[in-house]
Amino acid sequence: MSLNKVERNIIYQGKAKILYSCSNPSNLIQYFKDDATANNAEKHSIILSKGIINNFISEYLMKSLEIKGIPTHFIKRLNEREQLIKKVKIIPVELVVRNLAAGSIIKRYGINEGIKFSEPLIEFFYKNDSLNDPLLNEQHIEEFGWSDNNEIKLMKKEALRINKILIKIFDNAGIDLVDFKIEFGHCFNKKNEKQIILADEISPDNCRLWDKETKKILDKDIFRKNLGNLISGYQEVADRLGVKIN
Ligand code: TMP
Repeated sequence: MSLNKVERNIIYQGKAKILYSCSNPSNLIQYFKDDATANNAEKHSIILSKGIINNFISEYLMKSLEIKGIPTHFIKRLNEREQLIKKVKIIPVELVVRNLAAGSIIKRYGINEGIKFSEPLIEFFYKNDSLNDPLLNEQHIEEFGWSDNNEIKLMKKEALRINKILIKIFDNAGIDLVDFKIEFGHCFNKKNEKQIILADEISPDNCRLWDKETKKILDKDIFRKNLGNLISGYQEVADRLGVKIN
């Protein structure tokens, strides 16, 4: 029986994705929606085919990370909108890695957009829409029991490795990786040992991507700042990465 015919239940409905159960209880199906939101869903639009482009870009980036030894939840792309992924318990902490200053950090501290940080800067945010994803420090994360010291160290190390790999991939495409957001989750490996792996997606929805020469914005800031056609930006990212959408 094809995966699409198996009865499925919605496990989680996010702003841009839906997670469905599937026949194997260790796995889930991740469906990419066309919904675009900004300012914690204050602004919302349906942008036709956004989910398709993100599915293909995220597949490419997750596979590239796996090849370099980063464990991820990605198993395979099933069709234009869906991926088969490992089921994880998401750690409710979003890691943002920043190479250049943009977005919330420039507003929060009054620094100039585009300055390069001396080292990639990692920030943590509590994944909670009703609280507007507040900024966290490591002590908050431990105190509230969302993760422990060893895991935080591991996630930071992985985030920096991921950053190095992604910077190179985008650099080869003439793109500056300004910043990105990632999430990790717990699962059990084949030896039944608890493991932390990269989850969610990596796409222009959760990265800032600027053309290296012109600084043209190619990511979701096109939507957040009403800069024009989001799809042409995302399609340009896919084309430059050599990702074929079919
Ligand atoms: P920020 O500058 O708004 O804090 O965002 C930093 C990066 O994280 C940017 O690439 C967008 C991404 N991001 C998400 O993917 N989801 C979110 O909920 C937030 C707040 C940011």
